[in-house]
Amino acid sequence: MAEEIIVHGHTKAEKYNALYPQLKALVAQEGNLVANLANITAALKETFNYFWVGFYLLDNGELVLGPFQGPVACTRIQKGNGVCGTAWETGKTQLVPDVNQFPGHIACNALSKSEIVIPIFQQGNLVAVLDVDSEKLDDFSATDKNELEKIAQLTATLFG
Ligand code: SME
Repeated sequence: MAEEIIVHGHTKAEKYNALYPQLKALVAQEGNLVANLANITAALKETFNYFWVGFYLLDNGELVLGPFQGPVACTRIQKGNGVCGTAWETGKTQLVPDVNQFPGHIACNALSKSEIVIPIFQQGNLVAVLDVDSEKLDDFSATDKNELEKIAQLTATLFG
């Protein structure tokens, strides 16, 4: 089968609606976690052209860089540190319109202006976070939050 994502639509909501069933089908045909996480980041990057899209995976008590699309990034993040570590500590999505206003934000790249991080749980335990960065200020809306949380729930099913 051709591995291709085709997303028509103008608004973010339309794009997410077109993307989600394709993501679901894409991961359903593959059992390897890294392959699926990598394709999810590629599909999000391709659809929305965000600056950076990636996963950090819980590994021995810290978040370690996983599959991503975008510039090289920080490799390890501790609980409570930065936006990712805060999403982990609070268990809640962190929507940050201006990263410079977020105390403790970890600046992997100075071009990143706004960010959203969604924690991913399996059976109540954090297994990863999904991190999306934009070069534009205030680039993430309630639509992104809802739709990325839906994608995070789909991702959670991949952790066996
Ligand atoms: N800014 C994140 C670090 C990860 S990078 O954005 C890829 C943070 O504050 O946790």
